[in-house]
Amino acid sequence: MNENGPIQTRLTRRFGIRHPVVCAPMAFVAGGALAAGVSRAGGLGVVAGGYAGALGAEADLDAELVTASAEKFGAGFITWALERSPQMLTRALKHSPFCIVLSFGDPRPFAREIRDSGAALICQVQFLSQIDLAVEAGAAAIVAQGGEAGGHGAARSTLPFIPEAADYLRKHSPETLLIAAGGIADGRGLAAALILGADGVLMGTRFWASAEALTPRSHTDKAIGSTGDATIRTKAFDALRGAPWPREYSFRILKNKLTAEWADRESEALRSFGALSTEYARARAQNDLDMVAIVCGEAIGLLRDRPSAASIVESMVTQAAELLRKSSSLNFT
Ligand SMILES: Cc1cc2nc3c(=O)[nH]c(=O)nc-3n(C[C@H](O)[C@H](O)[C@H](O)COP(=O)(O)O)c2cc1C
Repeated sequence: MNENGPIQTRLTRRFGIRHPVVCAPMAFVAGGALAAGVSRAGGLGVVAGGYAGALGAEADLDAELVTASAEKFGAGFITWALERSPQMLTRALKHSPFCIVLSFGDPRPFAREIRDSGAALICQVQFLSQIDLAVEAGAAAIVAQGGEAGGHGAARSTLPFIPEAADYLRKHSPETLLIAAGGIADGRGLAAALILGADGVLMGTRFWASAEALTPRSHTDKAIGSTGDATIRTKAFDALRGAPWPREYSFRILKNKLTAEWADRESEALRSFGALSTEYARARAQNDLDMVAIVCGEAIGLLRDRPSAASIVESMVTQAAELLRKSSSLNFT
């Protein structure tokens, strides 16, 4: 059963979902309960396969996928990490996800296995130049991620990136859906993304602070109340903790003592790869928030609470529908 929501797009129609809202595959945050909560509310929930076990300490992916499978759901992987543990994709596909989201790497080596399973491929890109590879891989949808995003990403800004990607797809692959990500946390962001040419949105930070997320309570307690000024995008953090991210990607996190000391010294940090890996593991075990990454984006400045996924989806869709209705009668002259 899927009665129509107030905002119908190519994404809702093709994916058979009520609202054009997708939950980001957030490593260590988006488990089965969050994915199911978003999907039950009419969006599309995606369980994070994260680093596909490559950096260790992954939550039990199978258990999370079983929980998610009460509803339509997807699974997402960090592509460069999946290259090291491709069996994790095979494992995820056994749960019959509706879609697989691949970000940060070449999706083509995994495309056939995904297609053969019947799952839709969604590719998250950070640069316009990555769209061709995603289209070649047969992506049903491209997520264009602006640098405002929480977590890993790059430097494009959502505002010009979305219409540029929309124009590009209209010209080169008009059937491919476009989903906007980066800095979207309420109905204003959803309405703006649709006006810019997207078919829907993918949100991380907003769902990171939801009741169902696996996010430690101490992280949301510390971050909520901060303004969007309080995050920073840096490569120093991954270098110091010894996470082998490709050079084109940086990490947006809440500023803390570690970023104060290192964010301006990226080259030095890159040369000292892994220098703080032992201290970081210890800090993580002790939940030392001066050192550990609290992973959220600029949209943190729009959050006041940690509500259920359902109330997030419902309130943003209601607000966006109202704004779109009003904007169709605006007179700027
Ligand atoms: C806590 C957190 C963890 C994330 N982990 C992943 C991940 O494992 N894989 C991935 O493709 N993207 C990850 N992202 C990025 C999201 O896919 C998405 O692009 C981003 O959250 C969108 O921007 P927003 O945070 O402003 O909503 C993460 C984001 C956050 C906030």
